[in-house]
Amino acid sequence: MSTTFTEETRLRAREIIARYPADRSRSALLPLLHLVQSEEGYVSPAGVEFCAEVLGLNKAQVGAVATFYTMYKRKPTGDYLVSVCTNTMCDVLGGQAVYDALAEHLGVGHEETTADGKITLEHAECLAACDYGPVMTVNYDFFDNVEPQGALGVVQELQAGGRPMPTRGARLCTLKEMAVQLAGFADERDGAVADGGPGEPSLRGLRLAEQHGISVPGYDPKTPIRSKAEADRAAAEAKAKAEAEKPASGSTAPDVKAPDDKSPQVRTAETRQPDARTPVADAPGTKVPTDGPAPAPRDARAAEAAGAAANPPAGDGKPAGDAAGAQERNLKDAEAGTDADGVDPADANGTGVRK
Ligand code: FES
Repeated sequence: MSTTFTEETRLRAREIIARYPADRSRSALLPLLHLVQSEEGYVSPAGVEFCAEVLGLNKAQVGAVATFYTMYKRKPTGDYLVSVCTNTMCDVLGGQAVYDALAEHLGVGHEETTADGKITLEHAECLAACDYGPVMTVNYDFFDNVEPQGALGVVQELQAGGRPMPTRGARLCTLKEMAVQLAGFADERDGAVADGGPGEPSLRGLRLAEQHGISVPGYDPKTPIRSKAEADRAAAEAKAKAEAEKPASGSTAPDVKAPDDKSPQVRTAETRQPDARTPVADAPGTKVPTDGPAPAPRDARAAEAAGAAANPPAGDGKPAGDAAGAQERNLKDAEAGTDADGVDPADANGTGVRK
């Protein structure tokens, strides 16, 4: 049994696994990989071994999943991961110039970390925030409409020990702290969950719907757009309710903590901007079709890796989201000895080295 990880991590691992049906426990792998990353700053061979042990998998299976997603880092990563979108839209708007300025200032390239271990720089694929392009994120929090000088200012503040406020979302935390949240545990800093709010481009559709009396059937048109204070109050009430519903001490319940208010409050699009889909009127004959797919989360990379935590398998036993589905396919590939992801499933040391 791996002895690398602390008792707190082991307790959290049991809590994560308990969120899934007993016969589907391996669906807990994605949040568990974030969990080991929260302790070591990356998914080390020991982290792969730990996940394999607690889920009854082999290291090749865990390695196959860990190497599929870019959010799982395979080497030590800085306290702050600066990701600059250089995909098509942001590139056209100047994303590459932002990346180049940061690379020159920091003296590092893609996926490299400064000598003091503080900042890791990376190119990022589309961060699903094209309407704010060019964008960059620091530990997955957004800085919108950045240009080289502004991006340099953010990085210089980080180097000086500060934590600049993102354009949207909660205040910055370290990458390890963010990994705890991505593992499905709440950000417990006072008021952090309600920090910031949606940006105006995100609300543009809502404003147009208001203007034209369009709504989506099934939603209560009286649903208010919550203020920050109201969101804080709702979170406090939900927490108090969960506390009141906890089993009394001395209960014979399993020693694994049941999901409560600390269940996956990961910072997906749902938690960042719950009001963006709020309808405001219900004018007959102007309804928006609802048989299409649900709106895509804005923070696609958070949704990608947090999907399994936030969407446990459905009652029919099938994975409930794309991330869970991809994980399932990877596990099957590993079991079948195939290597659809370019990962050698026979990788006995669990490092999942790409061919
Ligand atoms: S291309 Fe940069 S966020 Fe989409």
